[in-house]
Amino acid sequence: MGVVIAVLSQKGGTGKTTTVRTLADVLRRVSLDVLAVDLDPQGNLSDYFDVDPEASPTIADVLAGRAAAAGAVHGGVIPSNLQLAEAELAIAGKMGRELILRKALKDVRERHDVVLIDCPPNLGLLTVNALVAADHALLTAEAQYFALQGVEQALEVITLARDGLNPDLEWLGVVFTIADLRTKHSREALASLREHVGGKLFTASIRQSIAYAESAERAVSILDHRPDLGADYVALAEEVLDRLGLASSRRRVRSLAEEMAAA
Ligand SMILES: Nc1ncnc2c1ncn2[C@@H]1O[C@H](COP(=O)(O)OP(=O)(O)O)[C@@H](O)[C@H]1O
Ligand SMILES: [Mg+2]
Repeated sequence: MGVVIAVLSQKGGTGKTTTVRTLADVLRRVSLDVLAVDLDPQGNLSDYFDVDPEASPTIADVLAGRAAAAGAVHGGVIPSNLQLAEAELAIAGKMGRELILRKALKDVRERHDVVLIDCPPNLGLLTVNALVAADHALLTAEAQYFALQGVEQALEVITLARDGLNPDLEWLGVVFTIADLRTKHSREALASLREHVGGKLFTASIRQSIAYAESAERAVSILDHRPDLGADYVALAEEVLDRLGLASSRRRVRSLAEEMAAA
């Protein structure tokens, strides 16, 4: 039975999509079977994975009950497009609307080791669906003064999901992204986040670099485009696997890190 991880934040631009894309890449390099689910109507993850924009069915069809999740996997991704915005409106009035994704992913989660869900840039119904479908929630926080506020809002929604429909949901941690730790601003944001979330903050921060925009545009993983920067995500993957208790995969990621450092 695969582990399902929802990657979320209260707003856009915190590195969610980049995190899903790159973690998927690291985990696949150590032979884990990863399914990535694009749950944002903007479809950035689908673009980043270079999924054909005409690929069908998509996650919108899955949520609308027109397709099974297993039939919507295109090259390891269940893609999304603007139709997801319509699908969200359509499910909003339904009974059990928060449970739709959980039910839909039931069959596919058995076929993969890890399912990563890329949430939209808000804490609305789609993100709630992701939290109800997930075993773990991973928060991203951009290196800004308001990072903490966003994390606190996301934590409230996690608590609601746990108190209500998904008591087994665990909070995996917070990753600090797009960080320029040479600036006082970034360092202060990191310190205040650490003070409030303590050990939930991953030790690995994701450094800021223009290379991320380039790699997204070319649909090339940062691990290939700039392995020196990709090392941040390799370090994050090690911590994630550690927290998931997947020790042998963690060791393989360690070897990957050593190979990359030596190259
Ligand atoms: N570490 C980083 N340094 C600089 N830019 C980044 C970094 N990570 C992501 N970006 C860029 O920031 C923007 C937002 O990232 P994205 O992963 O799409 O965030 P979200 O999914 O939370 O909206 C994108 O243009 C992306 O290429
Ligand atoms: Mg995104």
